Amino acid sequence: MKIGNLTINTYASLAPLAGVADRAFREICAQFGAAAFTSEMVSAKGIVYGDRKSAELMVLSERERPAGIQLFGNDPADFDKAVRFAMRFSPDFIDINMGCPAPKVTKNGAGSSLLKDAALCGRITAAAVKASDVPVTVKIRKGWDNTRITAAQVAKQCEENGAAAVTVHGRTREQMYAPPVDMDIIRAVKTALRIPVIGNGDVTDGQSAAEMYKYTNCDLIAVGRGALGRPWVFAQINAYMTGVPWSEPDIRTKMDVMLAHAAKICAYKGERIGMNEARKHAIWYTKGLRGKAELRRRMSEITSLAELQAVAREIISQNT
Ligand SMILES: Cc1cc2nc3c(=O)[nH]c(=O)nc-3n(C[C@H](O)[C@H](O)[C@H](O)COP(=O)(O)O)c2cc1C
Repeated sequence: MKIGNLTINTYASLAPLAGVADRAFREICAQFGAAAFTSEMVSAKGIVYGDRKSAELMVLSERERPAGIQLFGNDPADFDKAVRFAMRFSPDFIDINMGCPAPKVTKNGAGSSLLKDAALCGRITAAAVKASDVPVTVKIRKGWDNTRITAAQVAKQCEENGAAAVTVHGRTREQMYAPPVDMDIIRAVKTALRIPVIGNGDVTDGQSAAEMYKYTNCDLIAVGRGALGRPWVFAQINAYMTGVPWSEPDIRTKMDVMLAHAAKICAYKGERIGMNEARKHAIWYTKGLRGKAELRRRMSEITSLAELQAVAREIISQNT
């Protein structure tokens, strides 16, 4: 499929995940065939005020392409400036966050709060499109709550103002991450638009990906939590969609991926900060393994790559 001038070759992109899908994790998912990548959300206002942390979040590597920078905010003027600045980081697309449910974001009128004002969504999209050298996509939810289901209206405004694709997470803001995902709303947005629609919510394997494609007629899928500790989910989905046999990696391979992932985090952020972050990924990688309560406890105490390697060796011997 195509998003503007970008060609997407595989079946599932990695959804943006603040605090999780950093450059290290995105590169690991790229190795397993994820279709596209998005930065953690970056504050448009933060960029306008020259915040250094915002700039760090926009660094993309050549190993994760096509890759977009996601911006959140509520003022079209901020998007104009922030998108121009973001161009320095050579994104393949810009994504606008219209779905974040976190109170610290919505109380400023950004993220999913925008879903209450379709016209403003249109103006923000227009400002971003005007400032951008690359396609602009938007990521929305079903609506604010069950009395305000605005996804189709918002998506249409974004399309009319130049958006190249829309990702729809089939939950309201009020739902946060609770079930169910409404696939009908994703289908309704797809029917209403000409631009590609990316279906999102609770896709965790080949079968759920195939169901999302079939039911909604979407053009691509975005996988978020289903990739935590399981970056090979992209290989599984690609195999399923093309009818190729696939089998779950063995424990040795999984532990190798976990260690490579932790090493990347440490390489990009230094071992002290890196291991702080790697611990939560390590717990995800070891979910469902034998002796998991004890493992969880040990994982939460690890402070170096060497310790993680030692635990990984034990896990392999206990689980083979
Ligand atoms: C920890 C976490 C961080 C997230 N960060 C972002 C973000 O920065 N931008 C965004 O648009 N969505 C963000 N999301 C929402 C996901 O991209 C996705 O829409 C949602 O998790 C539903 O997909 P899933 O069921 O495949 O996880 C986040 C979700 C989680 C769980």
